[in-house]
Amino acid sequence: MSKSQGPVCLIMEAEKLFLLFSLIMLQFLSCTSQESLKTNQTIKEGDLLISKGNIFALGFFSPGSSTNRYLGIWYHKIPEQTVVWVANRNDPIIGSSGFLFINQFGNLVLYRKDDQKLLVWSTNVSVEENDTCEAQLLDSGNLILVRKRSRKIVWQSFDYPTNIQLPGMKLGLDRKLGTDRFLTSWRSADDPGIGDFSIRINPNGSPQFFLYNGTKPITRAPPWPWRSQMGTFKSVFVNDPDEIYCQSTVPDGYYLVRLIVDHSGLLKMLTWRESDGRWKEYWKSPQLQCDYYGYCGAYSTCELANYNAFGCACLPGFEPKNPMEWSLRDGSGGCVRKRLQTSSVCDHGEGFVKVENVILPDTSAAAWVDMSKSRAEYCELECKRNCSCSAYAVIVIPGKGDGCLNWHKELVDIKYDRIESHDLYVRVDAYELGTLFLLRNNFKGL
Ligand SMILES: *[C@@H]1O[C@H](CO)[C@@H](O)[C@H](O)[C@H]1NC(C)=O
Ligand SMILES: *[C@@H]1O[C@H](CO)[C@@H](O)[C@H](O)[C@H]1NC(C)=O
Ligand SMILES: *[C@@H]1O[C@H](CO)[C@@H](O)[C@H](O)[C@H]1NC(C)=O
Ligand SMILES: *[C@@H]1O[C@H](CO)[C@@H](O)[C@H](O)[C@H]1NC(C)=O
Ligand SMILES: *[C@@H]1O[C@H](CO)[C@@H](O)[C@H](O)[C@H]1NC(C)=O
Repeated sequence: MSKSQGPVCLIMEAEKLFLLFSLIMLQFLSCTSQESLKTNQTIKEGDLLISKGNIFALGFFSPGSSTNRYLGIWYHKIPEQTVVWVANRNDPIIGSSGFLFINQFGNLVLYRKDDQKLLVWSTNVSVEENDTCEAQLLDSGNLILVRKRSRKIVWQSFDYPTNIQLPGMKLGLDRKLGTDRFLTSWRSADDPGIGDFSIRINPNGSPQFFLYNGTKPITRAPPWPWRSQMGTFKSVFVNDPDEIYCQSTVPDGYYLVRLIVDHSGLLKMLTWRESDGRWKEYWKSPQLQCDYYGYCGAYSTCELANYNAFGCACLPGFEPKNPMEWSLRDGSGGCVRKRLQTSSVCDHGEGFVKVENVILPDTSAAAWVDMSKSRAEYCELECKRNCSCSAYAVIVIPGKGDGCLNWHKELVDIKYDRIESHDLYVRVDAYELGTLFLLRNNFKGL
């Protein structure tokens, strides 16, 4: 994303938040509230399950102007109801007969009516018959189902996010559990059903987060290894064979934070401070031209100079594919290699040209090269000896030293950026190398 924006990874330490809020808002305590739900206890219309520190509440609600009823979790103390999780998002309950309880199999079950004939939603985990479960809403906003005897969490709402990431919630893959935690937008402000927009990890090549419209990428966060950009938010990034995720924390919570994929297709980070008294936009994406995935097509860079300038430029050794469109400031066609018919970049004296300070291209078709011996020269050698390698970068991997990342297909979605900057070495033919060499030396002579 662009300079003005932070990483996709959010946010926590909810425990600290409630200290502040609990002092102010004690009057909101509901009479029908409870802290945990035990076997055969129920949550009906008007009942609330409230987290210990009074931060979050679970109950039935109707979104926007809808009269449909949903089981959800919201901030208990914020006057404008802000729902962070919905159980039955695609299966609304009509009327006020909804009925949640833990059944004899230890699962949370939501029925349309107390006759228990129409199951709307269930946690659907297998719990040893012999054990009982208890549901608790934590101050992080996580609803957990705990086995009583072993205190083991058998299910948690953080594993089934809806449209919001809260601090402490992981977004990404858990290959051991076979889960992929990602956000999907609501359909509209009145309908929490699964909408078109999602933010999820693409683990191919080197992992990246994408905001999608259906299956089409709208915008892309910088590829792994991720860096934390925002001073106040701390992010944890994990990329190991079992798990790839990011999780954020708010160090000393004086505010609430949430990341949302909204129904208009925007990814937003919002904060709430007592002194603001409302949700404030910390950043959103996409916003600027270069935020849109592949805005300048293949083999080109996108730079936001100012609103009047055309930000697309071909990589060294490339020229606009459609010069006419390009001259009309439509860069979407991208660029193609110069001298395609007459020159070769395969064993014909080709080399690499450095393009500085960029967010590296889409890494889904990139490959890591043996990291143990990689140094800059080694990365170049590795890329050069495979004619399908179009570019490489030398990347510092936290805790592991340097690595070479090689691209084997089109180079797409390269943006100039000071913060996430890397250098990209682009494969060019001998002619281009020679021209650049001459240019450099001429300029030195002037
Ligand atoms: C829950 O209700 C079922 C059915 O009425 C009953 O068999 C079971 O003993 C109850 N469990 C507890 C822990 O009360
Ligand atoms: C519960 O899970 C099983 C197996 O994972 C699945 O076949 C079944 O449809 C699920 N039931 C509900 C109500 O989601
Ligand atoms: C149920 O738990 C008790 C106590 O842990 C144990 O002695 C008993 O064997 C268990 N029964 C079954 C059917 O698992
Ligand atoms: C999402 O995709 C649909 C169908 O291609 C399109 O009509 C809509 O404008 C897109 N919305 C956004 C925000 O990209
Ligand atoms: C070049 O790299 C591609 C992609 O990694 C690979 O499929 C191909 O086998 C390599 N070719 C050679 C000659 O090593």
